[in-house]
Amino acid sequence: MMPSGKTAEGPRRKNLDGLFKPRSVAMVGASADPHKIGHQILRNIVEGGFAGEVYPVNACAEAVLGLKTFPSVAAIPHPVDFAVISIPATAVAACMEECGQKGVQAVAVITSGFAEAGNIEEEHKLKAIADRYGMALVGPNILGVVYSPSRLNATFGPRDMASGGTAFVSQSGALAIGLMGWAVMEKMGMSALVSIGNKADVDERDLIEYFNHDEHVKVTLVYMEGLKNGRDFMQTRISKPVVMLKVGRTQRGARAAASHTGSLAGSDQVFDAAFRQLGMLRADTFREAFNWARALALPPMPGRKVLIITNGGGIGVRATDECEKAGLHLLDDPEWLEETFRPVMPSYGSTKNPIDLTGGAAADKYSQAFKSAVISDKFDALLVLYCETVITDPLAIAQGVSREYEAAGRRKPVVAAMVGGERSRQAIHFLNQQGVPAFTSVADAASSLNALAQWHEISSREKDDPECSQAPREAVRIVEQARKEGRSALLEHEARQVLELCGVPVPPAAFARDLDEAKLKAAALYPLAMKIASPQIIHKSDAGGVAVNIRDESELAEKYSAMMKTVSERVPDAQIEGVNLVQMAEGIECAAGLSSDPQFGPVVMFGLGGVLVEALKDVAFRIVPFGRVEAERLIGDIKARNILDGFRGARADRPSLVQILCAIQKLAGLVKEVDINPIRSSEKGSFAVDARIIL
Ligand code: COA
Repeated sequence: MMPSGKTAEGPRRKNLDGLFKPRSVAMVGASADPHKIGHQILRNIVEGGFAGEVYPVNACAEAVLGLKTFPSVAAIPHPVDFAVISIPATAVAACMEECGQKGVQAVAVITSGFAEAGNIEEEHKLKAIADRYGMALVGPNILGVVYSPSRLNATFGPRDMASGGTAFVSQSGALAIGLMGWAVMEKMGMSALVSIGNKADVDERDLIEYFNHDEHVKVTLVYMEGLKNGRDFMQTRISKPVVMLKVGRTQRGARAAASHTGSLAGSDQVFDAAFRQLGMLRADTFREAFNWARALALPPMPGRKVLIITNGGGIGVRATDECEKAGLHLLDDPEWLEETFRPVMPSYGSTKNPIDLTGGAAADKYSQAFKSAVISDKFDALLVLYCETVITDPLAIAQGVSREYEAAGRRKPVVAAMVGGERSRQAIHFLNQQGVPAFTSVADAASSLNALAQWHEISSREKDDPECSQAPREAVRIVEQARKEGRSALLEHEARQVLELCGVPVPPAAFARDLDEAKLKAAALYPLAMKIASPQIIHKSDAGGVAVNIRDESELAEKYSAMMKTVSERVPDAQIEGVNLVQMAEGIECAAGLSSDPQFGPVVMFGLGGVLVEALKDVAFRIVPFGRVEAERLIGDIKARNILDGFRGARADRPSLVQILCAIQKLAGLVKEVDINPIRSSEKGSFAVDARIIL
């Protein structure tokens, strides 16, 4: 099943076959000077073994690297599918125009000096040309493109990258060059590497969706610094694992500091929400991202039960800790374990998972144990550990494991961690080349298995059905009236009314203009909270405008007078319209809000309420629109979720919290911010006790 969040079809995107499977490539800026980028790219294309036609374009030279050159793209007397452009920025637009006229399907513009240097106009020009001719434009400001199945290396990076199942999409070109070198050293095979630079046209979404249908790509790894259009990104459809490495902070935008929700809407958290919503796995470091990418190419991991085979007790314990930390559980089936593994180990070995073959275990013992284990359905993944000893040969062990894995048809996920020196490193490289992810640390192995298990959970999770209904007409009228009066926020009773109209449960309440009216209306509401109503007072507690737990009329009268006195002292110019009387609601304090993110537009926040929302910053977000399933997940994303489920006390009512999170989305686009804090949630339901709506 498709992960939720990408139900809507986006606009038609450009076909990228010309980029990845060109029959011919023009290299514009191909120089005979080996110090020039254009020379190195041409060399990579030629020496990388690209089987199609290659046409160097150079205004002056006759031949480069033994190939006849052409003075321009237009002068090439054959069709050109793909053009790589590495000439000064001022000449790029004209060259692209020529490419368009020639019917080139895709261009990769290596050249820098466009939007990243403030030259936005010129970049728009390139995009307009690409659109006019239906050409896909990668860049500008990029390293280039590698696509292993076509043996196409149109970059000025390393040449000897191995092919494999990972497609790497990088916003940074320099980093991509560095990582290409690292990938070569670590035997990390890649099917594609695309440096997208300024993303004038082709972006992450285009590539992820293209690779969905590419049999050579098993995992897409994206290095992202920021997005141009978050809402478009939210339409990305994914059918294969996507690992996101998003770094840096994006601009927070000019959000109203007056609202708690806004001040907490750190945009990186919103990115986090976006990735979750789309079903992408977010890694923290390059190492993690590449480790996960290796593991995600393994067969599916339908559960979280792990079997560990080791030659050392210590490393077994370490691995157990790391597995537990990663939410993986060790298979516990003493009888089966004893029966299966006793025959392949000395009497002093342990058949308790981790299976300890002991330090003398050589390749034959590992192979036997592995063979017995890998055919079983009692667990979901196998973790092979090894500590280097002088009497055993790590490479032989790795070869044995790999052989048995192939013989068993690579039935289930297998990863390895090998701790030792140079010999172990060689064994690790060998395993990685054979498609058995192997690491120097047990933590990396456990984290990779966790990623694989997560992907299975994501790909089989229930589909969300976003609700896109609008606010009812009466709610719109209240908002528009307040706007007409020049107010920047709704009064409390208006906010309550608007929320109620949208379907947010609110506690019984009344508005009173003076004490007499308050006495009359309070009768049906005790115990109640009384709150000042004034357009000038947003932070009512600070102004002395809140009294809670009022139980009867005498208490009401006493607190009313005290409140009027304090408020008039603290905010002398405030125009007092009256008081709101709200029945006290019981339950756990939560908070929900709606605000606008500069990249993603309207977002909904959920967290614990009251002072905790600010002190703990334990809040999570979702991008609007989303439905009930995603609202449930949003609630489950906060760290203190077990408090909601009755940790040593009363429990919150999740269905009514879900209802609130869905209902406030109706206000997206109509108001600037909604901040409901607190919501009181108990077995009786969830009620918006206090709310602010900023226009
Ligand atoms: N048509 C055909 N050939 C052209 C041409 C055109 N319109 N314009 C220039 N050329 C030729 C030049 O004559 C030169 O060949 P030569 O060495 O035989 O004289 C070659 O193309 C390259 O042009 P040149 O002017 O020497 O540019 P350059 O190679 O010094 O720099 C870039 C070009 C694109 C590399 C440079 O402008 C640039 O942007 N560098 C940064 C790239 C980068 O870092 N990208 C991001 C990576 S992360």
